[in-house]
Amino acid sequence: MNRSSKSPKVGREDRLPGRPVNASRTDMVEVVLPQDANPLGFILGGRVMHLIDIAGAIATHRHCNSHAVTASVDSVDFLNPIRVGELIVLEAQVNRAFQTSVEVGVNVFSENFVTGERKHTTSAFLTFVAIDENRMPHPVPPLILKTAAERRRYAEAGQRRKARLAARAKHRK
Ligand SMILES: CC(C)(COP(=O)(O)OP(=O)(O)OC[C@H]1O[C@@H](n2cnc3c(N)ncnc32)[C@H](O)[C@@H]1OP(=O)(O)O)[C@@H](O)C(=O)NCCC(=O)NCCS
Repeated sequence: MNRSSKSPKVGREDRLPGRPVNASRTDMVEVVLPQDANPLGFILGGRVMHLIDIAGAIATHRHCNSHAVTASVDSVDFLNPIRVGELIVLEAQVNRAFQTSVEVGVNVFSENFVTGERKHTTSAFLTFVAIDENRMPHPVPPLILKTAAERRRYAEAGQRRKARLAARAKHRK
């Protein structure tokens, strides 16, 4: 497979039909089990990152109706621990579609189903690239924005992309 050629350019005539944000919205819930935890009984950070990647990938597949790979994950901060026996709740959606890539936002919460208490644990932004059967990047559908929150996330994703691509260019030098 030759991966040296660049992504296809997307002309106006090639534009795919747009997809609304709620087409990609993905909710995942799991109970935290002892094998997912450290000796203190808190879920391992790596397990949370694994679930973030899966939720983000599902949101991408739903938006693009194609295969995709994770290109990058922005920094992830863990604000609150999640204990064994609690639920880990992940909410993901496409924030912005570019040419062959999308930014997905994933919010993670802990939920104690006895008390009903819910705490925000982590937010993450991931970039996925849609790929074809030859594992070459291919165009993604544009995103249709309907709410003020969707427009805000779209604008913020544009700023994050600039920083990401600048870091990528620096890394490649
Ligand atoms: C991601 C991948 C497909 C990009 O391939 P590439 O030949 O560098 O593609 P391009 O330079 O043409 O970029 C394609 C798109 O990816 C985006 N992209 C590539 N690397 C990126 C990065 N590190 N962060 C953000 N976006 C990135 C580009 O901005 C471009 O987006 P656009 O078309 O929407 O503008 C390729 O590097 C790959 O297959 N990586 C391995 C992916 C993988 O295995 N992931 C699992 C974890 S290791």
